Amino acid sequence: MSEKQQFASKIGLIAATVGSAIGLGNVWRFPAETQANGGAAFLILYIACVLILGVPVMLAEFSLGRGSRADSIGAFRKLAPHSAWWIVGLLGVVAAYVIIIYYMVVTGWTLEYLVQSVDGGLYSGTEGAEGSLAGLFTERMNTYIGSFWRPVIFTWIVIALNIVILLGGVQKGIERLSNIAMPLLFVILLFMLVVSLTLPGASEGVVYFLDPDFSKIGTRTVISALGQALFSLSIGMGVLVTYASYYPASTRLGRTSVIVALTSVLVAVMMGLIIFPAVKSFGLDGESMRGATLIFVTLPEVFARLPLPWLWSTLFFALLLVAAVTSTVSICEVPIASLQDRLGYSRRRAVLTVLLPLMVLSGVCSMSFGGLADFTIFGYTIFDFLDMASTNLLLPAVAMGIALYMGWFAPKGLLANELSNYGTLRGRSIPLVEALIRYLAPVAIALIVIFNYI
Ligand code: PHE
Repeated sequence: MSEKQQFASKIGLIAATVGSAIGLGNVWRFPAETQANGGAAFLILYIACVLILGVPVMLAEFSLGRGSRADSIGAFRKLAPHSAWWIVGLLGVVAAYVIIIYYMVVTGWTLEYLVQSVDGGLYSGTEGAEGSLAGLFTERMNTYIGSFWRPVIFTWIVIALNIVILLGGVQKGIERLSNIAMPLLFVILLFMLVVSLTLPGASEGVVYFLDPDFSKIGTRTVISALGQALFSLSIGMGVLVTYASYYPASTRLGRTSVIVALTSVLVAVMMGLIIFPAVKSFGLDGESMRGATLIFVTLPEVFARLPLPWLWSTLFFALLLVAAVTSTVSICEVPIASLQDRLGYSRRRAVLTVLLPLMVLSGVCSMSFGGLADFTIFGYTIFDFLDMASTNLLLPAVAMGIALYMGWFAPKGLLANELSNYGTLRGRSIPLVEALIRYLAPVAIALIVIFNYI
């Protein structure tokens, strides 16, 4: 069995966990989901899910990981031997693997947009074409991510990049990368926020994003908000269990979870305030916008209206790429840690076993918008099917399993001890967290999922 590694510093472990949480989920998926679910009402449900369900379940995952110092499957094997609980851990690994298949694809698009920003191709011919920018960027997007081989190749490059980072070990590379990338991402987002909010007609977008229309809330909205909350906090796929197994004994789990949750919400809200004013200002909310591609058309439009579009575009997509990669590495780390811990694989063998098959799987998935656009499973493209099945089904299932286990079946006192660092912290909110994990989380998740399917 491999020697358990630990994060090098307090800041580093927070940056790595925040790095896992903040990614395409906040910047790309959140605005798309908000748009698909009618705006502000979705935002409110999402924040409610983060606070009431996300934070407690995150704490359950942290306690499980640090309490066992094992991978997602091993945690249950250690704490609940001779039982079937390990299946929850296995489902977490499955969820991680399903998500990584399409996450690599979107990261590939991000890389392609970065390359096209640096090279200027994305913005060629935009001068004087203000009136037709939407059409132009939609067409560019179709060329970049809708053609047959291009997206596959960029996806492969991203997978190769992940292999290199993961082979080098996560801690140093990722910790250091996250320490620099996360503050920078905020600076860029802040700048874009100012630009977007000063566009003519921006207030309409702000109203759309912040003024809720509760008649839009249906069961689909609720399940989507839950899925988004879990996804954006990296819950329900063993990532937090795996990362927490690298936390030192002195880490304050409660404080860490609040920091992670708040930064994640903050980035999502900032993205909403960037995207929606721009969408409304440019009159882009027509049917032609496909959720998954929202930021790849709208943001270039914003940039094209600024001086030096390629510069802002380069900065943005570079940072998005970094944010995405700090997440891809964390997702890959789940099956890698399991192969190392469970089957005794060397780091190298585990990394290659997890990532090489992705060359084929993500490659095929990336054709969902091009060569395989007409191939559907239950009416969804491969890409949409993987996204839907993982976020609306697997993540809630795993989150519920973890809440049930930590709430009712884990060794007595484990949760309270982990949350109070074995009595060294006062932990006044522990009873509340325990109650949320025991009662509210399983019941709420079950109800949401059941109502979604009847
Ligand atoms: N939380 C990440 C995001 O918002 C995605 C992610 C999912 C990361 C699962 C790790 C595990 O982009």
